[in-house]
Amino acid sequence: MEKKNIDWSSIGFAYMPTDYRYVSNFKDGKWDEGTLSTDPNIVLNECAGVLQYSQSVFEGLKAYTTEDGHIVTFRPDLNAERMAASAARLEMPVFPKERFIDAVEQVVKANAAWVPPYGSGATLYLRPYMFGSNAVIGVKPADEYQFRILTTPVGPYFKGGAKPITIRVSDYDRAAPCGTGNIKAGLNYAMSLHAIVDAHKQGFDENMYLDPKTRTKVEETGGANFIFVTKDGKVVTPKSDSILPSITRRSLIYVAKEYLGLEAEEREVYFDEVKDFAECGLCGTAAVISPVGKINDHGKEICFPSGMEKMGPVIQKLYDTLTGIQMGRIEAPKGWIHVIE
Ligand SMILES: Cc1ncc(COP(=O)(O)O)c(C=O)c1O
Repeated sequence: MEKKNIDWSSIGFAYMPTDYRYVSNFKDGKWDEGTLSTDPNIVLNECAGVLQYSQSVFEGLKAYTTEDGHIVTFRPDLNAERMAASAARLEMPVFPKERFIDAVEQVVKANAAWVPPYGSGATLYLRPYMFGSNAVIGVKPADEYQFRILTTPVGPYFKGGAKPITIRVSDYDRAAPCGTGNIKAGLNYAMSLHAIVDAHKQGFDENMYLDPKTRTKVEETGGANFIFVTKDGKVVTPKSDSILPSITRRSLIYVAKEYLGLEAEEREVYFDEVKDFAECGLCGTAAVISPVGKINDHGKEICFPSGMEKMGPVIQKLYDTLTGIQMGRIEAPKGWIHVIE
């Protein structure tokens, strides 16, 4: 199969329509059999549930080419499970896990020409999403839904090496106590838009959100979980009911313990202890880990000993091991790499 004629290393993170998307509709209490479509547009009723009451959830994962030439995805079963939890929280029907994985396979196979080659650093980003599609005027869940997966090629996250970023402690919250911070609902991202635009205006790369109840504990950023390393080399990651359970973070904890023999713990992390950590990173599908060099807390700076030039040594090891597993250079735990073709 011939690949599209794209300069894979120069594309960024922007929507580029590919040939096919997967579409399935939920009506009269059941999902239809689903199909691949060449039409990137959706026609909706003006009163659709998603437009009026933001009934929408989504996921994000990547298809890429491994060293031995297979097209694979990384732990798509966990995306299916997380999307099911997101849907249930917003009173939406669950798109069954086997169907989710089948849809991933179908849409990636159909767009195989768009999956960047090994070594390019680029990937095919998959965005599964679901929304209330029928007209709803009273505040209640929709009766009809559409599940789709669109795909778009995205470039290497770090061009010319991973430079540590600077983040600030946000005065805005991204989630509410007992709210929807632990699911991947579009509404959480709408909540964070003003905060991120403002952070960028002030010269920061990201926001560090603290727990919305006490503002004393570290939560996450708008699109990634935190991972810290103590001065004696222990990996620590914040535990909270209002953060998204990152698949990358869960994988990194496993890698830390089982591949690198490090101590790793998921626990509440007080902001007061952050100054004592040796390394800090943000973890998520997009970058795997982005190193954080500096945190600005209302003018007071926390500068990690790992500095502003490169990743700290433990985070670098975690990054190299997980990306090695993903790319097929290091043997993966059973079930992590889902071969599509
Ligand atoms: C709010 C938030 N936290 C964390 C993550 C990282 O999750 P994952 O590692 O599953 O991509 C994401 C990205 O999906 C996110 O949007």
